[in-house]
Amino acid sequence: MSKDTLTITDNRTGRNYEIPIQNGTIRSTDLRQIKISEDDFGLMGYDPAFMNTASCQSKITFVDGEKGVLRYRGYPIEELAEKSTYLETAYLILYGELPTEAELKQWAHNITFHTIIHENIKKFIDGFHYDAHPMGMLVSTVAALSTFYPDARSIFDPESQRKQTYRLIGKMPTLAAFVYRHSRGMPYAYPDNDLSYTGNFLNMLFKMTEVKYRPDPILEHALDVLFILHADHEQNCGTNAMRSVGSSHVDCYSAVAAAAAALYGPLHGGANEEVLRMLREIGSKNRVPEFIKKVKAGEGLLMGFGHRVYKNYDPRAKIIKQVADRVFEVTGRNPLLDIALELERIALEDDYFIKRKLYPNVDFYSGIIYEAMGFPVEMFPVLFAIPRTSGWIAQWQEMLSDPEQKIARPRQIYLGPEKRVYAAMEQRRSA
Ligand code: CMC
Repeated sequence: MSKDTLTITDNRTGRNYEIPIQNGTIRSTDLRQIKISEDDFGLMGYDPAFMNTASCQSKITFVDGEKGVLRYRGYPIEELAEKSTYLETAYLILYGELPTEAELKQWAHNITFHTIIHENIKKFIDGFHYDAHPMGMLVSTVAALSTFYPDARSIFDPESQRKQTYRLIGKMPTLAAFVYRHSRGMPYAYPDNDLSYTGNFLNMLFKMTEVKYRPDPILEHALDVLFILHADHEQNCGTNAMRSVGSSHVDCYSAVAAAAAALYGPLHGGANEEVLRMLREIGSKNRVPEFIKKVKAGEGLLMGFGHRVYKNYDPRAKIIKQVADRVFEVTGRNPLLDIALELERIALEDDYFIKRKLYPNVDFYSGIIYEAMGFPVEMFPVLFAIPRTSGWIAQWQEMLSDPEQKIARPRQIYLGPEKRVYAAMEQRRSA
């Protein structure tokens, strides 16, 4: 008769253990009973980089990496990209259901009324060098928000959680736009609450001397779709940082800063920036085979390719390709697109990439669109961090309300020296 358990025989002792299986998972702590002696610590799992370890239970985002499926709260990403808006999707991710008309109106109002930042924040943005990386400025500035909102320390207070949610989602585009304008030496442009979330962001970025900035509706919509695609992606490196740092019960601004710092890395949200650099370095379509040869020889990665979870085409990359066509009708075609398409074509036919199931990920085409829209490459990870904020907050709130969660604290396998006597200076030899 079939049973939802796993029987383990410890060949060191000959003992058998029956361990429950729930949701296709065993609990690592159930392994601790497997010991060779009373004072043995017990068996542990060893899983560097969490290759096969679930760190939480979640109801937010579903990814089937083999099939290339992504859903937020059960809704396929394709449908959300076509029918929703970023703010509506953020609401869905945070509260679990799509908002009614009244709820959406109230939600948009609450976010919009938290877009302004304290004037002092401008002062320390001013303190950065003109060539400071915008993501470095964003990470520091988000962390600094915690000093402006000490009420954020009441992390379990629902009212405080609500307020910090509005503030973070409302202020991220403002911070992002201000760091951009600082790096350009331009005066800061204040939020325009008549505009949509992405329309206002474009306003704060690109407004010049006109009295009223009017975003191009196609670019505004394209950016909104890109924001939907980036809103959450279950337990990636940045989200894991959010949960892990948040598990110490620090305020959410500090935890978001940690998550954004993780996103900054070139293997994560910084990959879109690297893709653009790579495409520029390749320079022309006919140099693609030579570049692929180098990647296969282990001389660097094909940035924007590969994913820990997706072993199929990233569904977000498919949608981005369609968005690109619409954007290029307004901005003109980005010549780097031809190089990217050729890279994709050759890589998808090549045994090296087929065998390793390496497909384009979300970062492969997003940078080409951002560049066509006028963003410098350094802004790309910032553009990722803005929409991911709603996912980070949702995951943080889910973690705080989960009675099984505690401070995140992995175990280690100690392989260093045994206890030894302090070595006097004359006994030491240089390592
Ligand atoms: N180009 C060439 N080879 C690759 C690539 C790539 N982009 N990605 C993985 N491989 C190879 C890797 O060398 C390894 O080969 P082998 O088995 O011979 O040692 C094999 O594929 C498996 O790769 P892995 O490094 O074990 O896979 P991982 O799950 O640890 O890494 C990844 C996932 C996303 C970090 C990696 O694919 C990568 O570095 N990609 C390039 C950076 C990138 O585009 N990152 C964005 C990820 S999606 C959005 C986000 O998270 O922000």
